[in-house]
Amino acid sequence: MSFHRMFWIILVATVILILTISSWKLWRLVMPFDYTATYNYEAQSAMLGPEEIYRYFHWTNSTSCLLSVDFGFYVAMGVHIAAPDGHKAVCLDQFIAPVYNNCLVYSFGINNQWTFDDAMAQFGCQVYSFDPSMGVGDYDRSQQIHFYSLGLSGRDEVHPSTKWKMKTAWSIYQMLAPRHGVSTLIDVLKMDIEFYEWDAIPQMLRSGFLADKVKQLAVEIHFNANDTLETFKRYASILQDVESTGQFVRFSSRPNPGLKAAVSILKDKEEYIGLELAWYNSRFYYSIDNNQSKTRFFPYF
Ligand SMILES: *[C@@H]1O[C@H](CO)[C@@H](O)[C@H](O)[C@H]1NC(C)=O
Ligand SMILES: *[C@@H]1O[C@H](CO)[C@@H](O)[C@H](O)[C@H]1NC(C)=O
Ligand SMILES: *[C@@H]1O[C@H](CO)[C@@H](O)[C@H](O)[C@H]1NC(C)=O
Repeated sequence: MSFHRMFWIILVATVILILTISSWKLWRLVMPFDYTATYNYEAQSAMLGPEEIYRYFHWTNSTSCLLSVDFGFYVAMGVHIAAPDGHKAVCLDQFIAPVYNNCLVYSFGINNQWTFDDAMAQFGCQVYSFDPSMGVGDYDRSQQIHFYSLGLSGRDEVHPSTKWKMKTAWSIYQMLAPRHGVSTLIDVLKMDIEFYEWDAIPQMLRSGFLADKVKQLAVEIHFNANDTLETFKRYASILQDVESTGQFVRFSSRPNPGLKAAVSILKDKEEYIGLELAWYNSRFYYSIDNNQSKTRFFPYF
């Protein structure tokens, strides 16, 4: 083979390679994000071991929110410990903060502890509170707090054993649209729903609800001390999906001091089996150049 021929073959191959790579990048830029296609949580965290999974749960992106503030705690009396509980971190940085006196909160899992809901109402938010386990019907607790005897889940159903009425986030939002508007964003969605989070979060992600409607998400996540590594991997991958596919930025991770146990996958080492995580939706984090942000300033700055 002549030197000339070789030169041309290499040149053409290089050009084809460059074109392929750049058209793929261009394609990714112009294509809208497909939630279902990338929803593959099995693959993502398959490589994690028990310690890495726990490190990931405890990790937080500490610079992502400068003003992370707790809304509403009470003091819970445990067996060995009295500890604050019921509070949730909300990011009050100016481009993502709920607007004082003009904000919407969904609060799932009340268990007769209203401290978070009351604190958000004090901030001037309309608060919709949900709990199917309290044995009371729908009522307005105040002008700002509206209670529904409903649970959040991955599907619309009546729970077979408890007979609780369960709904998906979209179903609840559509039900409430006449009260709070058809296009209003949820400033903070709070969840403390005793393992139902693992059904509800993937559903909210797949259906686009998280991306389109939720500005901040605050969740108490739960594990069983005897959960298998497979189960822990599934939990981790659901959270990773919130952060990758969902483009949510985690700004707070804090263990619940009342929920600690000998965890099987850690060879019965004491670890937390309940953690409070909080994220904001980076899509709604307005940049300084964005004119929309002018109406969204947190009023104290
Ligand atoms: C941390 O937060 C910043 C926003 O403050 C974000 O740009 C960055 O991607 C986040 N990093 C990770 C690893 O989540
Ligand atoms: C695991 O722990 C849960 C909660 O403590 C318990 O209900 C369940 O029976 C346990 N499962 C096994 C297989 O030990
Ligand atoms: C913001 O609005 C002003 C006038 O309303 C306009 O001149 C300016 O170009 C806008 N800036 C951006 C980044 O859209």
